Formats: sequence, C-alpha cells, structure tokens
Amino acid sequence: MQSFNQKMLRFFQDLWPAEEKPIVPGEGNADHPPVMLIGEAPGEQESLQGRPFVGKAGKNLDGFLRVLELNREDIYISNVVKIRPTKVSDKGRVSNRPPNKEELALFTPYLMEEILLVQPKMIVTLGNFALKALCGPRAVIGDMHGRTTRVLLTHGKQQAEFNVFPLYHPASIIYNRSLQAVYDEDLQALRQLL
Ligand code: URA
Repeated sequence: MQSFNQKMLRFFQDLWPAEEKPIVPGEGNADHPPVMLIGEAPGEQESLQGRPFVGKAGKNLDGFLRVLELNREDIYISNVVKIRPTKVSDKGRVSNRPPNKEELALFTPYLMEEILLVQPKMIVTLGNFALKALCGPRAVIGDMHGRTTRVLLTHGKQQAEFNVFPLYHPASIIYNRSLQAVYDEDLQALRQLL
C-alpha cells in the first residue's frame, strides 16, 4: 500500500505543488478489511491534516463505526478524488465544491488500483460520486442504497468482483433531514450483513 501511495503522490505532485493541493491518500487496514469506505473528496480539515474523514466528517464516521462495532483501524478509508475540490468567491473566500469531470477522470483509475490492492470484503460507498465511480454513470443512489450489488472492477489487466453497499452521503442528510431514517435503516442492514 505504501508503494502505491508513494506512486500516486509522485504522479499528482507533479501536477500540483503540494502546498496548493495536498493529496489525501487512503489509509487503514489495507489487507482484506471487512469494510472499505469510499467518500467523495477531502474537505478542508482532510486537506489540512492529509487524512480522509477527520473533522466534521470524522464525527459521522465515529457514528458509522459504532453501529457496525468496528474501530477506525479495522477498516480502510479513502475517497474517489484525493485532493480538495475548491471554489473561490468574489470576496476571495475558499469553499468546497463537488468534484468536476476532469478530477473524476484523473483519480478514478487510482481508486480502481487501490481497491484491487486492498481487496476489501465489502465496499461501502458514500453518496453518488463514489457509487458512480464503481457502478457507472447510470447508477443512482436512490435506487441502489441499502443493499449489496456485485460489481466487476478492472484496472489494466487485473479484474475482480466486489460487494458494493451504497449509502447516502452523511453530508446529504444535513440538506435533506428525511434521509436520516433511511440512512439509519441502511446502516442496520449493513450491520446484519457484516
Ligand atoms: N471527508 C472526506 O474525506 N470525504 C468525504 O466524502 C467527506 C468528507
């Protein structure tokens, strides 16, 4: 995993000066973990600390782990896009934005390689970006959340099938409170499966 991350860091640091767009690599149990969690992209805290799901997103992760009776170091945690996508307002304020097509196209092959190296027993995607990265552009979270889908993933000459369990992104629940009950129910279904 270390050599994968070093290769990825070298490639992307050639594209952006590290101080401008720090890379946030995946981390955790990279040897057949029970769960590989895949988010969208790092936010401000993740970018500052160089680690996925810290800060506010880390609080959501704690709740997720509590329900599944797992520790952070038991699982592998990553994002589709490994830099923080940002926009700058007229007043110069920097804020998060969704990943764009170019970022998704650039980072998705690395995610495939990462998954094939880690060989997780279950992949849990958070939100539409992670779901589409694995299941294709027509996959929709509203149709696929809360149950396992088998997905064939390819990177170069390597291919393998994985279990994918899509969840709504915890951030989307903040904007749509009615999703909280759906998310909780889906998490219980995942707990039964694990
Ligand atoms: N932090 C992450 O690392 N990923 C997300 O998807 C959201 C917050």
